[in-house]
Amino acid sequence: MPDVDPSSYAPRLTAADLVGTVPDLLAAPAVRWGVLGAGGIAASFCDGVRARTASSVVAVGSRDLARAEAFAGAHAQGARAHGSYADLVGDPDVDVVYVATPHSHHLEHALVAIRAGKHVLVEKPLTRSVAESRILLDAAREAGVFCMEAMWTRFLPHVAALRAVVARGEIGQVVTIAADFDVYFPYDPVHRLFAPELAGGALLDLGVYPVAFAHDLLGVPASITATGTRAATGVDDHVAMILGYESGAHAVLRSSSRSFGSGAATITGTRGRIDIPDRFFMPAGFRVVRADGSAWTFQSPVGEGKAYEAAEVARRITAGDVQSARVTWQDTLDVMGILDEVRRQVGVVYPGE
Ligand SMILES: NC(=O)c1ccc[n+]([C@@H]2O[C@H](COP(=O)([O-])OP(=O)(O)OC[C@H]3O[C@@H](n4cnc5c(N)ncnc54)[C@H](OP(=O)(O)O)[C@@H]3O)[C@@H](O)[C@H]2O)c1
Repeated sequence: MPDVDPSSYAPRLTAADLVGTVPDLLAAPAVRWGVLGAGGIAASFCDGVRARTASSVVAVGSRDLARAEAFAGAHAQGARAHGSYADLVGDPDVDVVYVATPHSHHLEHALVAIRAGKHVLVEKPLTRSVAESRILLDAAREAGVFCMEAMWTRFLPHVAALRAVVARGEIGQVVTIAADFDVYFPYDPVHRLFAPELAGGALLDLGVYPVAFAHDLLGVPASITATGTRAATGVDDHVAMILGYESGAHAVLRSSSRSFGSGAATITGTRGRIDIPDRFFMPAGFRVVRADGSAWTFQSPVGEGKAYEAAEVARRITAGDVQSARVTWQDTLDVMGILDEVRRQVGVVYPGE
């Protein structure tokens, strides 16, 4: 058992110390976004960019012109509507393309943008596998363009704050991370979450969040143990993972489309713990409980959260960087590698693999 000496908590960290971890979104430079794929998450992204950043959405590309026009009318007024992805990436007014298609198509669509010389923000997971991610990132490196997986959670204020709490030793050495992303989806073999040809499965769609969260705090695991069930289409629908680390720490993670979970996360350490009671991957709050019994809370500003990653992309592009230090290319490769191994153990193989 580690020694717990409450008098050694000095100086004590409080929520007031973490105010600087909430960035001023409007202070980020302005860039011109083009949206590739007029679907559900693209709408939420555009709403966030337009309401909370200095940037604008100047173009929308869909496989269908009428859909692009309808999307622009609803979520990106004034944006040019394109009836093909090729036209979108050829639009000279677009600085950066947001790839918001199913992950089965991220590689193909991001390459279309990169080959047109555009910077890219690609929805999570970057691709279906680490092999595909290497192809995509190599292309970005060769083209000299910015590329980032849209792991937006890493830019949320409560995540920056809890990293500061952990780094300051408030909870001692991290021993366990527990996190889940479980959302019940009625079985539908053609839905993105169940269709193998769209790289369906709860792991890539939802499980990428707890895996990236654990990786953010503990890095690359020394061991990966997973068990899970598969839907009738063959993709995973309920997966439990244990990641083991050299330090002796464990991450106990879950993703499921068969249960309605809280999305809670707990980080336990030798001197206390951090509890995120609900949906750790969204703008959220947390409670720090110290081993001496004292506790305090931090709450993120509420509101749409994609604006934080959009602001980071604008800062990096303006600075001439090709990656972000918060979601590096290596971070994405590490996380994709974990997902590949979990998928292998659960027996999920996508068409063409
Ligand atoms: N960051 C987040 O919080 C979050 C949340 C949900 C999803 N996502 C990610 O965002 C991506 C898209 O998810 P979504 O929920 O927005 O999906 P969605 O509503 O189905 O939209 C995807 C869009 O991709 C385009 N598309 C291109 N090829 C397609 C194909 N073969 N089949 C279906 N659609 C195709 C379609 O746009 P057009 O017809 O206009 O071309 C479609 O509207 C996924 O990678 C997912 O993991 C992220």
